[in-house]
Amino acid sequence: MYSWSLLSILTILSTALAAPASSETSSAPAPSPTVPYASDDPNYPLWNPESDITPEPIRSGLGATILGPQNVPVELQNPDVLAPPTTDNGAVPNFKWPFSLSHNRLQTGGWAREQNVNVMPVATDIAGVNMRLEAGAIRELHWHTDAEWAYMLSGYVRVSTVTPDGQVYLADVGPGDLWYFPPGFPHSIQAKNTTEEGAEFLLIFDNGSFSEDSTFLLTDWLAHVPKEVIAKNFQTDISAFDRIPSHELYILPSHPPPADVATDMVVPNDTPIPYTFPMSQVEGTKTAGGTYKVVDSRTFTAATTICAAEVTVEVGGMRCWHPTEPEWTFFISGEARITVFASSSNAQTSDFQAGDIAYIPPSFGHYIENTGNSTLKFLEVFKSGIFQDISLSQWLALIPHELVKAHLRVDDATIAKFSRTKQEVVGPTSSGSTSA
Ligand SMILES: *[C@@H]1O[C@H](CO)[C@@H](O)[C@H](O)[C@H]1NC(C)=O
Ligand SMILES: *[C@@H]1O[C@H](CO)[C@@H](O)[C@H](O)[C@H]1NC(C)=O
Ligand SMILES: *[C@@H]1O[C@H](CO)[C@@H](O)[C@H](O)[C@H]1NC(C)=O
Repeated sequence: MYSWSLLSILTILSTALAAPASSETSSAPAPSPTVPYASDDPNYPLWNPESDITPEPIRSGLGATILGPQNVPVELQNPDVLAPPTTDNGAVPNFKWPFSLSHNRLQTGGWAREQNVNVMPVATDIAGVNMRLEAGAIRELHWHTDAEWAYMLSGYVRVSTVTPDGQVYLADVGPGDLWYFPPGFPHSIQAKNTTEEGAEFLLIFDNGSFSEDSTFLLTDWLAHVPKEVIAKNFQTDISAFDRIPSHELYILPSHPPPADVATDMVVPNDTPIPYTFPMSQVEGTKTAGGTYKVVDSRTFTAATTICAAEVTVEVGGMRCWHPTEPEWTFFISGEARITVFASSSNAQTSDFQAGDIAYIPPSFGHYIENTGNSTLKFLEVFKSGIFQDISLSQWLALIPHELVKAHLRVDDATIAKFSRTKQEVVGPTSSGSTSA
């Protein structure tokens, strides 16, 4: 039951008075004076990490200065958290995690840090690992119950796997390239010495509960099998296994593999499909505001549960859509902000720098805006074999205009600007800038 308050009657009256008369022009939007107009506050970002200020939680006449202690570097990185846009409302689970806050695992030969539901509970469907291997170092032979999709950040590695049918695949990948191993496939990763420093990469798992610390490792297994069983399995003397490690190696230093992959093969590759993909060689689609490159199972056939887009957004540009599948985004360079819309008036904004992760649950509307002074580059990873997204602009451009006018009260000239083709990345508008 609805009870009329004085406020709601005043609101409706003032809205009705503010509405343009429908007879004014033929293209004037139909009046729908049931709720007041949204605020016209543009809500520009208020500062950035390089700003030479002490940030305060004050915006649009709201808030007050901080009297207690302040962690200024963190607050400079998070302007839309300390002083949120007035459009933010309600509660949204935290969707930002910087790899810089992941507890690192240091080994001889490299390191690994992870993000999973333990640190970001909203990320139920995808977990990520950032791993570094010095030249020659090996991520020990292992397998796990979840699929592994990987993106090379720097350097070159050689990966291997053997399928349940006993087929083998050995290949090299370099910066911007991918690999994918289905659940259970045993695999290895070894940094080449093509670059002096070795390699660094991202590992993505199609399960938010995945932990890099609970994979099935070769040495860990054999250290927990009676020696007489090991000898029987390999049909050798027990003494042949006198020097196996007493516990897992995880990451270990070693000699770099031969430069040419063919000379490293025991038998020629014989899997029906490749388990690596040269994404670095795919030509990105250019749009007004940046570039866009998609790789999914239509081109990388092995990758049936994970697909991705590598996106660049020029200064002042942005991208706006909602995913049909869980989305994990990693920022490679630049500065950005994202507002996540979680339905029922709930919306929250966070800011991102290189090395940060954003996680967007399926269906949550959001945008990624370049709020910095340099090209923004990020990787969007989806738990899906096929890339799908719904563009806000294309949606509203393609349906009957009267429907759009009845909701948003915009005119025909405005709707005519909506792109009917998908514009994954848009540039800045001529009238608006992204900084105050
Ligand atoms: C995800 O991983 C957790 C922890 O290993 C496991 O218990 C769970 O069954 C996995 N979920 C799926 C859908 O495989
Ligand atoms: C890289 O490793 C290979 C194999 O061990 C070796 O032959 C080659 O000399 C190394 N190259 C550099 C630049 O270290
Ligand atoms: C961009 O550059 C201008 C001029 O140097 C500076 O005032 C502004 O703070 C910079 N913005 C960001 C986001 O770095």
